[in-house]
Amino acid sequence: MSTVDLNAKIPNNVDLFQDKRLLRALEQWQPNYLSWWKDMGPADFQEKDVWLRTAISVDAEGWANFDYVKMPDYRWGIFLADPLPDRRIGFGDAMGEPAWTVVPGEHRNTLRRLIVTQGDTEPASVEQQRLLGHSAPSLYDLRNLFQVNVEEGRHLWAMVYLLHSYFGRDGREEAEELLLRRSGNPDKPRILGAFNQPIDNWLDFFMFTMFTDRDGKYQLLALAESGFEPLARTTRFMLTEEAHHMFVGESGVERVVERTAELMKLDPNGDARAQGGIDLGTLQKFLNLWFALSLDLFGGEISSNAASYFAAGLKGRAKEETYEEHRALDQSYRMSVLADGAVVEQDVPLRNAMNEVLRDAYVEDCARGVERWNKRLAEAGLGERLSLPSKRFHRHIGIYADMPFDDEGRLLTRGDFEARKGDYLPTEADREYVRSLMKPVREPGKIAQWLGRPARGIKGLPFEYEYVRLD
Ligand SMILES: [Fe+2]
Ligand SMILES: [Fe+2]
Repeated sequence: MSTVDLNAKIPNNVDLFQDKRLLRALEQWQPNYLSWWKDMGPADFQEKDVWLRTAISVDAEGWANFDYVKMPDYRWGIFLADPLPDRRIGFGDAMGEPAWTVVPGEHRNTLRRLIVTQGDTEPASVEQQRLLGHSAPSLYDLRNLFQVNVEEGRHLWAMVYLLHSYFGRDGREEAEELLLRRSGNPDKPRILGAFNQPIDNWLDFFMFTMFTDRDGKYQLLALAESGFEPLARTTRFMLTEEAHHMFVGESGVERVVERTAELMKLDPNGDARAQGGIDLGTLQKFLNLWFALSLDLFGGEISSNAASYFAAGLKGRAKEETYEEHRALDQSYRMSVLADGAVVEQDVPLRNAMNEVLRDAYVEDCARGVERWNKRLAEAGLGERLSLPSKRFHRHIGIYADMPFDDEGRLLTRGDFEARKGDYLPTEADREYVRSLMKPVREPGKIAQWLGRPARGIKGLPFEYEYVRLD
């Protein structure tokens, strides 16, 4: 196994000291990164000790060390999963050929675009979540937010390493640009839609880490199959960090559901809001919004770009090894499409359907999470259930973009949709209500009224632990 040089100015397991030019380029980028973190990272908690995990190896077990760290001192570094011996390209036209250790000239621009698009999401989410520390519902949650934030920062490092190492001057310019775009800024927005949405409350945050970080998981799974070996190895290690982000989202919503159920039972009219909680209707609307925004991140249903990424061996399917056939020629994928304004089932050539294949795997994973939340409702003796809306609902990309489908996937008239929109998506009043609940709770062991306690704390510690030292 490769060893991690933790004492280097830039911790890494890629023998950075051997490549002086690369080292110099990254060391020049480092202060710019830190000044971005200072400006756009979590507001106001930079001097506090946070109980954070830091990568110290890429071993599947025990890769992380837990300790109090001030966020700007976090050891952001470059960690690639160890190479697999004699790795071959696992899909597409070049299937069976040795994986590339340098960028193939003909795929240079496409690969750079894939890496930049992935890289852009990482700082974007930090920017979106920048003010959430002010309203954290507990110290445990505050710590989880910061853990996610520093790791998204590290994911940016992961992509910048690839740009600096393999794309010369273009790569260095792209690395600078990654620090210049700003989430939600009309003049220099982040590249993808969901990463320009404001996240000003913890319900948005939990839904984002459940649904949008999970899109990240599926993009990383697809890139982990890449024939470009450094990208595959980088994303494989990122996936181990990503798992925690989705845990924060899935267990976060689960704890809202548990608390809501408790409050409903407490209230004579079953009204969670009357008890200072978040009602299931509001939860469902936030779920609808973030699920739809995240579906867009997979791109168009029928896509010649996706087909060419697959053909070229750049981006595979999640867990490609579980498929029997890896060229995806002469095969088709059954999906619903629009024909003359009606939804019909159709067979689409498989390579052109790769976005939809990945999206469907994602939807299945999301459904498992919702199932888990519903179990909590059932255990509480409640009949209500949460559900995923139709994949056609509230889309902005692909064949259903900007069409007035309702949450069950029925096409409404635009007028009907507008009239009912507030039944499906958070209204300004819903948002205002949720915001009104966002009062910080900063005493160890205490938690906000609208949220349940986690079953356990971090790494064997109790929930009551002082995960962030505020004084
Ligand atoms: Fe990430
Ligand atoms: Fe993430």
